[in-house]
Amino acid sequence: MTVLITGGCGFIGSNLAIMLKQQYPKYTVLALDNLKRKGSELNMPRLSEHGVQFTHGDIRNAEDLVFDQPIDFIIDAAAEPSVSAGLGAVPAYVINTNLVGSINTLEVAVRHQAKLIFLSTSRVYPIEYLEKIAYAEGDTRFELLPQQSLPGVSRNGIAENFPLDKARSIYGATKLASEILADEFRVFFNMGCVINRCGVVAGPHQMGKIDQGVIALWVARHYWKKDIAYFGYGGQGKQVRDVLHILDLFDLIDYQLHNFEKVNGQVFNAGGGTFSNVSLKELTGMCNQILGNSVGEVRVAESRRGDIPLYITDNAKVKGCTGWQPKRDAHDIVHDIFNWIRENEKMLKPILDV
Ligand SMILES: NC(=O)c1ccc[n+]([C@@H]2O[C@H](COP(=O)([O-])OP(=O)(O)OC[C@H]3O[C@@H](n4cnc5c(N)ncnc54)[C@H](O)[C@@H]3O)[C@@H](O)[C@H]2O)c1
Repeated sequence: MTVLITGGCGFIGSNLAIMLKQQYPKYTVLALDNLKRKGSELNMPRLSEHGVQFTHGDIRNAEDLVFDQPIDFIIDAAAEPSVSAGLGAVPAYVINTNLVGSINTLEVAVRHQAKLIFLSTSRVYPIEYLEKIAYAEGDTRFELLPQQSLPGVSRNGIAENFPLDKARSIYGATKLASEILADEFRVFFNMGCVINRCGVVAGPHQMGKIDQGVIALWVARHYWKKDIAYFGYGGQGKQVRDVLHILDLFDLIDYQLHNFEKVNGQVFNAGGGTFSNVSLKELTGMCNQILGNSVGEVRVAESRRGDIPLYITDNAKVKGCTGWQPKRDAHDIVHDIFNWIRENEKMLKPILDV
């Protein structure tokens, strides 16, 4: 079995590559990355220690995606993953990587008759509809109300039939457009494909920064005693996200790789769901407790572009189809990131202590 992981030096790609090699030492795992993400280069020694083959390449260039050996599976984890990226003046990188690069990757899959596991995002769902979800304001968080007017949302979270017909950010649009093309390739070029729309994924080896990787960013801020900031929604930090431990994502991908016929053609919402979710304010509390540090809190009333009050995945479809459900919660994630930073403090300081 040969698995190509694009974005293989990134947070998700490198973790999946290494876990695959640990679980299945006989598999050939290829990690392709252009090292665009600051800190992704730190994952290169880890990959080689675990026998993952690294290829320096850019998915925007079809010439970089020429492989001599057969490829059985492609896990598409190369992207500019920030929701705010591309909302400024120049969206070219987001579009060229997340959409053109995805198309190049689909063509590799067809050429090699490889099956594709596409990492998509909850951000395919339109901002205007996510803002219309009915929620109550509790002491520490926004909470989903049982009565909802939109389809695809209930107290169990957001399901795959949530409406899709309005704007969602350039990031979300490139991911949805890639999903649509992947399905076209599945139907017309007979390419196997499964799509996972994840909420926040977090854990060790995530190079958290202000616009992406909030859990790692929060832990790093507490570790190096730097202020944190609550933006928008009154500056209270009550925005909620579900958070999926990278080990739980691996369990799902592992299932999909080895039971592909059961998931081919499916689109799944997959996240921490009602089991693992946290508001920023609660995340601060967890960091205080686990790291034993508290830091200054800055409150900025103005919202950030693309922000939403809450997102919780309804995992019913993926659980029904695969039996998968997350087992590690937000507390486990903060704990594991803290240990990772503590054990690699010197190496991580230039990247995470900003
Ligand atoms: N982390 C999350 O919370 C999350 C949630 C939902 C979906 N996703 C999706 O999962 C995938 C992986 O995200 P991540 O969190 O690991 O991000 P990441 O930034 O850590 O990893 C992405 C990797 O892709 C590489 N890359 C960027 N542009 C490239 C290009 N043109 N060619 C080759 N490599 C390129 C980067 O250098 C980086 O190593 C993305 O598709 C993202 O949309 C992530």
